[in-house]
Amino acid sequence: MTLTNVNSPLTLNNGVEIPCVGYGTYKTDPAATATAVTAAIQAGYRHIDTAMVYRNEEGVGQGIKAAGVDRTELFITSKLWNTDRGYEATKVAFQKTLDRLGLDYLDLYLIHWPANEKQFGAEAAKINAETWRAMEELYHAGKIRAIGLSNFMPHHVKKLLETATVKPMVDQIEVHPGWTHADEIKELQAMDIVVEAWGPLGGQGATVLTNPTMQEIATAHNKSTAQVSLRWVLQQGVLPLPKSVHVDRMKQNMDIFDFELSPTEMATISALPNLGGQCKDPDDVDF
Ligand SMILES: NC(=O)c1ccc[n+]([C@@H]2O[C@H](COP(=O)([O-])OP(=O)(O)OC[C@H]3O[C@@H](n4cnc5c(N)ncnc54)[C@H](OP(=O)(O)O)[C@@H]3O)[C@@H](O)[C@H]2O)c1
Repeated sequence: MTLTNVNSPLTLNNGVEIPCVGYGTYKTDPAATATAVTAAIQAGYRHIDTAMVYRNEEGVGQGIKAAGVDRTELFITSKLWNTDRGYEATKVAFQKTLDRLGLDYLDLYLIHWPANEKQFGAEAAKINAETWRAMEELYHAGKIRAIGLSNFMPHHVKKLLETATVKPMVDQIEVHPGWTHADEIKELQAMDIVVEAWGPLGGQGATVLTNPTMQEIATAHNKSTAQVSLRWVLQQGVLPLPKSVHVDRMKQNMDIFDFELSPTEMATISALPNLGGQCKDPDDVDF
């Protein structure tokens, strides 16, 4: 696997190719989203990650149109929010997402969070199974090129696989220095599921980018701590989704293919303590 730029493809378990770095849009102000997405596409990103709950799908769609790049060259992901779980509701929510984006298909659609036992008791697994059944139907109907999960830990995935007829192609989980999910990544990859890293820079307010160890490694490579963080994600075979509304940072976050972290540097970063981020346990959330 030789990755030379953000659009070098990884291949999903259904044969669909996905650009190895995506552009994130969480907390991008809806009013500023179109401009940011157009700028990201002009900077060279072809893979855009949004979600119904970000309230900016319309802006993403407008930004895509304004960029003037052929739809087939883009890889667009959105996610089903928690209030829309279940067989019928999922199909309705998916169509609304398509309408807001102004698209007639998605490249990837994810269940944003698993229904958990804390909220739903024994019903949780059934809710996830029914939601997935609708995702499978939309996939078979050709409305989505790939379907997947987000914030599902391996035990949620295994439970889902008991009833699934289509194996998820992707699982998007929080991964950054200080919140590694190393065992989960290995387990998901062993299931032939591509892992995407949300919050790959530690998210807003995290201290990943100012950590002295990160700074030392960044200086050694003449790179920024953001670039080191993204490279550390990528070298684990994980697909990072950096978000920035600033063009210089968008470009900086793409420029991660001309250096390599040594095994020692990888291990040093992996051993960092918790540096902040959202760090939520999907079995403990109450939303
Ligand atoms: N599935 C989920 O549950 C879930 C949850 C959260 C996020 N996500 C997805 O993952 C994407 C990334 O996560 P995230 O947005 O939470 O966090 P992130 O990408 O780790 O970090 C974004 C923060 O870092 C700043 N930043 C970006 N590039 C920088 C650079 N080169 N140097 C210094 N600061 C930089 C951004 O500020 P500026 O914008 O001001 O540059 C922003 O404050 C999201 O946008 C979303 O698409 C998914």
